[in-house]
Amino acid sequence: MVSANILCLNLIVIISVFSEADGYYTYRTIECHFGSWDLTDIDYIRTYNFNKFEYMRYNSTVGKFVGSNQYGRSKAEALNRNTDYLKQLKQDVDKYCRNNSKTEISSILEKTVKPEVHVKIIKEGNGKTPTVLMCSAYDFYPKQIKLTWLKDNEPVTSDVTTEELANGDWYHQIHSQLEYIPKSGEKISCKVEHASFDKPMISGLDPPEPMPESEIIEIAVGASGLGVGIILAASGLIFYMIRTKGQWEKTLLNTKIHQVCRL
Ligand SMILES: *[C@@H]1O[C@H](CO)[C@@H](O)[C@H](O)[C@H]1NC(C)=O
Ligand SMILES: *[C@@H]1O[C@H](CO)[C@@H](O)[C@H](O)[C@H]1NC(C)=O
Repeated sequence: MVSANILCLNLIVIISVFSEADGYYTYRTIECHFGSWDLTDIDYIRTYNFNKFEYMRYNSTVGKFVGSNQYGRSKAEALNRNTDYLKQLKQDVDKYCRNNSKTEISSILEKTVKPEVHVKIIKEGNGKTPTVLMCSAYDFYPKQIKLTWLKDNEPVTSDVTTEELANGDWYHQIHSQLEYIPKSGEKISCKVEHASFDKPMISGLDPPEPMPESEIIEIAVGASGLGVGIILAASGLIFYMIRTKGQWEKTLLNTKIHQVCRL
């Protein structure tokens, strides 16, 4: 029973693949082409296609239909005689293309998210081996970005390696590494150019990071461990002293323990 059902499903799939491969299709596209965000150079294009063959096209700049084979040409000729239709298509440049493109520019193209930029030393040189710096920009949109290393405000191009990555959530990150031998008084910075900035952003080395909390805790635990050790050692000593020498020594050592605890 189960296997018969599976067979049925398989057959249906195979039949649909065959019928699609043997099928014919006709389609039209409507496109708005523009090269500048002020939309002064907009072209309204309609294409007419059969299978993958485009047989006729309307281009608003040309102002009429143009066929690319005999069928397309005769159809274009007939449509071009309809001046009202041509007039309406001309109006569609504004009504359809300009209007929609304006919305699309502001809702898609103009959306930007500023990167978070960090410049860090990832390997300290020793005068002979180079110091390695990393300039990273995180979580920006759109992906077009330019990172430039500056040495005393002059661009550096040699010994630079850059890697761009997509976060996978519309945001992007980029990392640029610079190897150089530091000279005293020299100023290194990383210039970031991105659509989200009015002007390039120039970042110097990140300030040294505050000690992470986990390390502070480790030091505190270490220090208190040392204290406990001293106290334990001292109390071991008291016990020993009491047993061997008596009351006077006990008082003396109690005072010492008190001091250790105050530290
Ligand atoms: C529309 O026509 C103009 C004028 O011939 C041409 O410059 C332009 O490239 C055409 N646009 C498209 C998208 O084909
Ligand atoms: C553009 O679109 C808006 C909103 O859909 C509409 O109100 C407006 O009339 C349109 N403009 C033109 C020129 O058609």
